[in-house]
Amino acid sequence: MRNQADRIIIFDTTLRDGEQCPGATLNIDEKLIIAKQLARLGVDIIEAGFAFASPGDFEAVKKIAQIVGTEDGPVICSLARAIKADIEAAAEALKPAVHGRIHTFISTSDIHLEYQLRKSRAEVLAIAEEMVAYAKSFMDDVEFSPMDAARSDPQFLYQVLERAIAAGATTVNIPDTVGYTTPSEFGDMIKGITENVPNIDQAIISVHGHNDLGLAVANFLEAVKNGARQLECTINGIGERAGNAALEELVMALHVRRQYFNPFLGRSEDSEAPLTNIDTKQIYKTSRLVSNLTGMLVQPNKAIVGANAFAHESGIHQDGVLKNKLTYEIMDAQLIGLTDNQIVLGKHSGRNAFGTRLKELGFELSETELNKAFVRFKDVADKKKDISDWDLEAIVNDEIQQSPALFQVELVQVSCGSNAKPTATVTLRTPNGEELTDAAIGTGPVDAVYKAINRVVNVPNELIEFSVQSVTGGIDALGEVTIRLKYDSKVYSGHAANTDIIVASAQAYVNALNRLYGALQQQAKEEVTA
Ligand code: KIV
Ligand code: ZN
Repeated sequence: MRNQADRIIIFDTTLRDGEQCPGATLNIDEKLIIAKQLARLGVDIIEAGFAFASPGDFEAVKKIAQIVGTEDGPVICSLARAIKADIEAAAEALKPAVHGRIHTFISTSDIHLEYQLRKSRAEVLAIAEEMVAYAKSFMDDVEFSPMDAARSDPQFLYQVLERAIAAGATTVNIPDTVGYTTPSEFGDMIKGITENVPNIDQAIISVHGHNDLGLAVANFLEAVKNGARQLECTINGIGERAGNAALEELVMALHVRRQYFNPFLGRSEDSEAPLTNIDTKQIYKTSRLVSNLTGMLVQPNKAIVGANAFAHESGIHQDGVLKNKLTYEIMDAQLIGLTDNQIVLGKHSGRNAFGTRLKELGFELSETELNKAFVRFKDVADKKKDISDWDLEAIVNDEIQQSPALFQVELVQVSCGSNAKPTATVTLRTPNGEELTDAAIGTGPVDAVYKAINRVVNVPNELIEFSVQSVTGGIDALGEVTIRLKYDSKVYSGHAANTDIIVASAQAYVNALNRLYGALQQQAKEEVTA
């Protein structure tokens, strides 16, 4: 990873910092699905979690290390506070990875030292040095972060970085933990580090930043111009509070404007060589996958991956684009893997055509997964005349990428309308195979269905978000439902697609309840072993 001064290293922290935001909680299988897709996307490093945080986090890091951390796969990283027990847990979980990295951190700003750590600068300096050396005793690849660097005294920051590098840190990461800095300040800070940390040539400079003022991506690009070579980011920019710098925005800015950035990386201005290793065609798919599994919807006007990012509504724009795309488009939608939403399949399409198109769309399914998805495809094709690429993607995400079902929806039936009391009957298959039916009256059909489901599942919860979106246009479009529910201050999400939005609503709700139920089971298991 060293000596790549003319290329930008992409460090993805969707599964660590991204997963820290309320409701984005993922189970181990879902984390693994995302990690596999991140590897396909071509990220250099996957921060798979915080191994010490919980047994579930430990297992997730370990499983990703085992399955995704192969010889030619990405580096797998675990976060660890600058504490021995954290570093030991990270090292243990990362053992199966061919390329592993421990990322250890301690705060350096006076406000954190005084109120959070209650330690002096001298103590922090000593801990940073000692814990980097301790991490180094487990593996060669060690990253050190001085948390809240952007609000730290630069002179102290230089000292800490120098000592961390001397102790063996191969990457030093500069976090703007509270999203406070502005682009030129952040650029200057990186420049200051390159000029004032004597051994900085022995480490890669990385940046990490939150989006509280909407400046994270701009800050990072300024950092690149001043010597940063690793960017820590998340898919769709998810993360603590306002989120992290968005991977897709950084990668596409560096791609579309490479002639502008090339000279800052010592390249000739007209070099066409990509600045990152990312396969940009995987961006859209990765964005949808993360959104579906975390339940964190992407705003329609979000740069690069929002539903409107490539839509031209005004007459003048449409006219221009029809005459020459470049009049109003700075990049081709196909670059991020968006197809023309071609209508490719219908009810007479066979398994072969179905499998071939999925392969073309970049899905690598096992035989069993393909069979499962094909059954669902046939079911949708019976109700919807033309199946587009977007429908196919929704079908696969729905069928294959859902966590194992504990409760399964067997039947949903509603009666509603004007002057009627919305009534629902549902039948669920329970985890022990029993079929249970119940009915309820609600304020509307979805409310009635949810009340009936609650009577069967019987886990109290609060529904905090419900959203329906159409996958494509047309009266027979697949409706996608995303919901978020709260239990004991934790948020769980669920997602489902169906031509019948009441059925999709029921399935999305049961998916979220399955996650909640799974988490409660895991908690009970941990309490027994503790
Ligand atoms: O925001 C932050 O400072 C972090 C560190 C742990 C790198 O996430
Ligand atoms: Zn962070």
